[in-house]
Amino acid sequence: MRKMLIFLPVLLLIFAGCDKNSTESAQSVPAIIPAPLSLTPGKGHFRFTTRTRIIIPAGDNEARLAAGLLASLAGNPSGAVPEIIEGEKAARGSVFMAYDPQITNAEGYVLDISSKQIKISAGTAAGLFYAVQSLRQLMPPEVEKDQMVEGFAVKVPACVIRDEPAFSYRGMHLDVGRHMFPVAEIKKYIDILALHKMNTFHWHLTEDQGWRIEIKKYPRLTEVGAFRNETVIGHAGRPPLKYDGTRYGGFYTQEEVKEVVAYAKERFITVIPEIEMPGHALAALAAYPELSCTGGPFEVATKWGVHQEIFCAGKEETFTFLQDILTEVFALFPGTYVHIGGDEAPKARWEKCRLCQKRIKDEGLADEHELQSYFIQRIEKFLLANGKKLIGWDEILEGGLAPEATVMSWRGIKGGIAAAKEKHDVIMTPNSHVYLDYYQAEPAGEPLAIGGYLPLEKVYSFNPLPAELTPEEQKHILGVQGNVWTEYISTPEHMEYMAFPRAFAIAETGWTPDRLKDFEDFLARLEVQKKRYDALSINYFKGEYRNTRAAATK
Ligand code: ACM
Ligand code: ZN
Repeated sequence: MRKMLIFLPVLLLIFAGCDKNSTESAQSVPAIIPAPLSLTPGKGHFRFTTRTRIIIPAGDNEARLAAGLLASLAGNPSGAVPEIIEGEKAARGSVFMAYDPQITNAEGYVLDISSKQIKISAGTAAGLFYAVQSLRQLMPPEVEKDQMVEGFAVKVPACVIRDEPAFSYRGMHLDVGRHMFPVAEIKKYIDILALHKMNTFHWHLTEDQGWRIEIKKYPRLTEVGAFRNETVIGHAGRPPLKYDGTRYGGFYTQEEVKEVVAYAKERFITVIPEIEMPGHALAALAAYPELSCTGGPFEVATKWGVHQEIFCAGKEETFTFLQDILTEVFALFPGTYVHIGGDEAPKARWEKCRLCQKRIKDEGLADEHELQSYFIQRIEKFLLANGKKLIGWDEILEGGLAPEATVMSWRGIKGGIAAAKEKHDVIMTPNSHVYLDYYQAEPAGEPLAIGGYLPLEKVYSFNPLPAELTPEEQKHILGVQGNVWTEYISTPEHMEYMAFPRAFAIAETGWTPDRLKDFEDFLARLEVQKKRYDALSINYFKGEYRNTRAAATK
């Protein structure tokens, strides 16, 4: 069914030609991504001048974050950084930020722009911040560069936006285990997520090919586990395999982790750390082989894929070790959720291990799947005792879910459906739609990727709410997340190329109700925002956005 084209065409008509200087200083067409719930055009423009002030509630440091972002954007090209003042009444020519208890959605806002003033209301500081992100996308792209432009005035078109997200969880993941990226790039990624009103950064910190977070109690995790001797060249699924002979590695110190978490917090983004267990643990086992079933020795993995060596579930030392690590992780990441992986853990070693088999017998477990469930449940108890909540990939359904676990459904949506039916919270991140390591266009013209075919149109089409679920069950679908696995992505430029603009489509899926989503409208807004992405030096993909395979089979 064709949906209404609600935003762009109407506004194009209204704004076309209404301001002769518009290209010089104002974005002529509101083209906000993700699309807001409602946008009513007004008359004329608001103009930032040397006298513009931003008024925030007295003593409110969180509102000051939103105001600070706006002030720096407005000040960039004009040189006139608006002053932020506290506790005054709304005044002509000013931007007035205030809380409104009527706005009950924790991230909702109203942005009311007239030629005389801008009024921003929200229930929380996050709402004020998202209003500023919308206002930002109405500003000309010059605001994104820390560069004065002679005689430049920043203008925004008058309109009223009433907005709130469809889902409370809107996230992007990044795998830094296979390849890592500098802290500056992680911050850039976080900034891009915030621009699109995403509120979660899932930081995949440990892998077979590299352990990337400093743990003070176990220094060998980074001395040994953070470095691999070489890396497979080309696709790891196409033998004969060749290796580059070059040592690769590195890790984030705890100080750097704190810096990233604080940076994200100022942008209303929660960072969820992922510490993989019981599988994807070869780097940790290379450092501490005594925690495996066989005792090793092992090397940090040099090729991609699923590895047989996993943590031994029969040894008490394994749990002491992981709990010690998690204790350090809790101190670094103030958010509620901790992701413990749980995916792709082959059971071959457990089947042959005397201690794992003894555990199965002692605990009255049926098989190795129930042993994995025992493992995850034990870790969940530890998390809950520390005020944290567990997230795991959908394999944690096998052998029985831990009582309070949240499930990330990645092998399609079926795991998510099963978990929601069991009244567990779910984050939808299916490889059928939001795996951004998959090809985004015909492979022949693209850099090597893991496989698949997920053009922007297909990513955009995802609806996180499966029709199979009742409205009550659907309440367990917290939201959506895109995943960026980096086996075949080794540089920041390539990472951005794979992630964007597909992540913007995911941001819209998380924010805009499905009934208001429209791909053609999204594409038109994307075209407008490209100037901003260029100003921000985002290396987004510029090729074919449509699902050409779908067209070919029509
Ligand atoms: C996954 O892609 N192995 C969660
Ligand atoms: Zn074992």
